[in-house]
Amino acid sequence: MFLTQGLAVNEKGHLTIGGCDTTELAAAYGTPLYVMDEQVIRDALKEYVRSMKEFYPQGGRIAYASKACCFLEMYRIAGEEGAGADVASAGELYTALQAGFPADRLYFHGNNKPAGELRMALEAGVGRIVVDNLPELHRLSAVARELGCTADILLRVTPGIDAHTHSFIRTGQIDSKFGLTMENGDALAAVREAAAMKEISLRGIHCHIGSQIFDAEPFIHAAEVLLDFLSDVRTQTGLAMKEMSLGGGFGIAYTAEDQPRPYSEYMAMVSGALKKKAEALDYPLPFIILEPGRSIAAPAGITLYTVGGVKNIPGVRTYISVDGGMADNPRYALYQAEYTVAAASRMNDPVACQATIAGRCCESGDMLQENVSLPDMDSGDLLAVLATGAYNYSMSSNYNRLPRPAVVMVKNGESRVVVRGETYDDLIRNDI
Ligand code: LLP
Repeated sequence: MFLTQGLAVNEKGHLTIGGCDTTELAAAYGTPLYVMDEQVIRDALKEYVRSMKEFYPQGGRIAYASKACCFLEMYRIAGEEGAGADVASAGELYTALQAGFPADRLYFHGNNKPAGELRMALEAGVGRIVVDNLPELHRLSAVARELGCTADILLRVTPGIDAHTHSFIRTGQIDSKFGLTMENGDALAAVREAAAMKEISLRGIHCHIGSQIFDAEPFIHAAEVLLDFLSDVRTQTGLAMKEMSLGGGFGIAYTAEDQPRPYSEYMAMVSGALKKKAEALDYPLPFIILEPGRSIAAPAGITLYTVGGVKNIPGVRTYISVDGGMADNPRYALYQAEYTVAAASRMNDPVACQATIAGRCCESGDMLQENVSLPDMDSGDLLAVLATGAYNYSMSSNYNRLPRPAVVMVKNGESRVVVRGETYDDLIRNDI
């Protein structure tokens, strides 16, 4: 069966992750449980950082998009591996700072950052604030003036690229709440305005074209469009910006059908295209920033669930109910996201049914996956949903007042809690 990196099956027929038996993890920490393999996270970061150096020695940075999976230890790991980080709110910024993440390697994103959050970012000394729109630019310059400092910014532009992914997770095309449209001149007008503000230091531009993208072409196209824009700006204003962020979006394998390219291939192709374009435009190669989130966190994670019961409706379907669901992983309910589901406690048993994995929330749509081939399952058996390291914990909720599960990090057969599971007291902490 399809297994992500770091997973194996031991002599007992149990799924293992990072050398730990999943049934032992479930017994030690309870279920539902998020488990993340530290080595897989580090390997992905290392590979990104290494291939940036190899294929783009002109200068670039990998900024881990921490919205994918955000807690103190993720920032510590990203920092240790030499990456920067993308933070999309003051909450993510706060977490990064509490983890001791170097502020100058942070990129502060979001399409509506309130003045208070902009102030917090400036006071912390974040590397770049990615300004999304004119009202935000005005807010930022006012806050910077008040603080008597200069804000180093990138302007987010919308290059109008359709990256052929699920419509909810496309962010680069023209009909987007994000960024300044290039086509109608909004982006150029904002460049002129920002360049004239003395509290603002305009360093470059940013775009993000979508998520879970497998083709290299949209990234190449985006890089070319952005460089064209930089060159246009130089012609029209004399300003030669030196930085360009291409956002994140690299696809990962959720099932055997997904076949992502190695990151180094994207890097080689994008840098090749950039070099050609820069030469043609006679524009100096910019410093580039890439913001992978999913591809760093998702493959490292699995979620473990205990089966509560099996309901067979003859001629209709078989429901296998587990002790988690849309509160810890809303992605099937939101996007019909595909996942591989493994019978973690009976990996060598033959397939005996096609089942729907149902969550425990009071909501018919609370499912984790449909049409899953599994052995006969019983109450007490353990299921694992694979590649849940991104956009699961970070998108979890307390619906039905379910406490969020713990996150356990594993490496070389050892496990440790990196986020404690919520208690009932946590659930009422802010209630009055
Ligand atoms: N940079 C920016 C500005 C972004 O908006 C995002 C993701 C990324 C980087 C990272 O993209 P990644 O490498 O993870 O694809 N909740 C959705 C995904 C939303 C992505 C939003 N932005 C999901 O669960 O699929």
